[in-house]
Amino acid sequence: MRIGVLTAGGDCPGLNAVIRSVVHRAVVDHGDEVIGFEDGFKGLLEGRYRKLDINAVSGILARGGTVLGSSRLERGRLRDACANAEQLRRELGLDALIPIGGEGTLTAANMLSEAGIPVVGVPKTIDNDISATDRTFGFDTAVMVATEAIDRLKTTAESHQRVMVVEVMGRHAGWIALESGMAGGAHGICIPERPFRVDRLCDMVEERFARGKKFAVICVAEGARPAEGSMPYEKGEIDQYGHERFAGIGYRLAGELEKRLGKEARPVILGHVQRGGVPTAYDRVLATRFGWHAVEAAHRGDFGMMTSLRGTDIVMVPLADATAELNRVPQNRMEETEAVF
Ligand code: F6P
Repeated sequence: MRIGVLTAGGDCPGLNAVIRSVVHRAVVDHGDEVIGFEDGFKGLLEGRYRKLDINAVSGILARGGTVLGSSRLERGRLRDACANAEQLRRELGLDALIPIGGEGTLTAANMLSEAGIPVVGVPKTIDNDISATDRTFGFDTAVMVATEAIDRLKTTAESHQRVMVVEVMGRHAGWIALESGMAGGAHGICIPERPFRVDRLCDMVEERFARGKKFAVICVAEGARPAEGSMPYEKGEIDQYGHERFAGIGYRLAGELEKRLGKEARPVILGHVQRGGVPTAYDRVLATRFGWHAVEAAHRGDFGMMTSLRGTDIVMVPLADATAELNRVPQNRMEETEAVF
């Protein structure tokens, strides 16, 4: 078999572990040929690829980022590719394509699949917001990084009697904020699923100071927004994907808290630190299992499907279901901690 693999969308710790696993299973165990497209779908459309053998993936298991490079998708070009899907497949001699990516990539993968390309998707995102799988790799690493940041911020907050507002990733879902906030014992957690009330956050901080605990750490997801009328909020610039650019909710919330409380507040934006560097053991294992199962699915001819973690098993689910709905923090998870505002 000739299997193509690509990584698209935002990078994520564990991508290299999937690539390595695909090569090990396909090349070593099945005697396949694996080619890696460079810079995501761009490399596929431009015919930029390289052969991946066992040496090409040596030593990459623990490396962050992606050795293949990644890029975001241009919709127009993908539509052109779909129109020429069969020709593209023949030109590249592909028996299977394994795109590894998040919501946008899996939508694109589904479009290519419907246009006739034999596709097996692998989900990734640090945000853990893909509903067709219980977990995505990269999430565990991001939570670990954010938890360590909260631990560290607590000691400096206490020394200076400050309110620290740490902004973590999570555009549509608050999983990183919820889990790192719980693991780090943040006093307030704000997530996109529940508009937060600034007056309630202020009451919590005042109450802590009155009890003699003269600091607080608030963990806010980048996509969290104040409840209507709770604080002044003007929307930032909207990008080509419909996302608010440089919304800076961490800055805005820290400023508002400082003003209302009359106490020093500091914003800390963790940003891409959460996406870089070494993946945790959990993420390496999940990524490796996804890679192995993606190759097996290709050999069974199980196309138009995606690897998914259900409980402790890896199963295949239709690509069409992958992005039907986002995995957002449900009410019962918010209720498990008093820190969600
Ligand atoms: O992977 C998703 C995500 O981590 C979001 O939480 C974040 O908003 C986005 O990526 C930022 O990605 P980039 O800066 O690469 O566009």
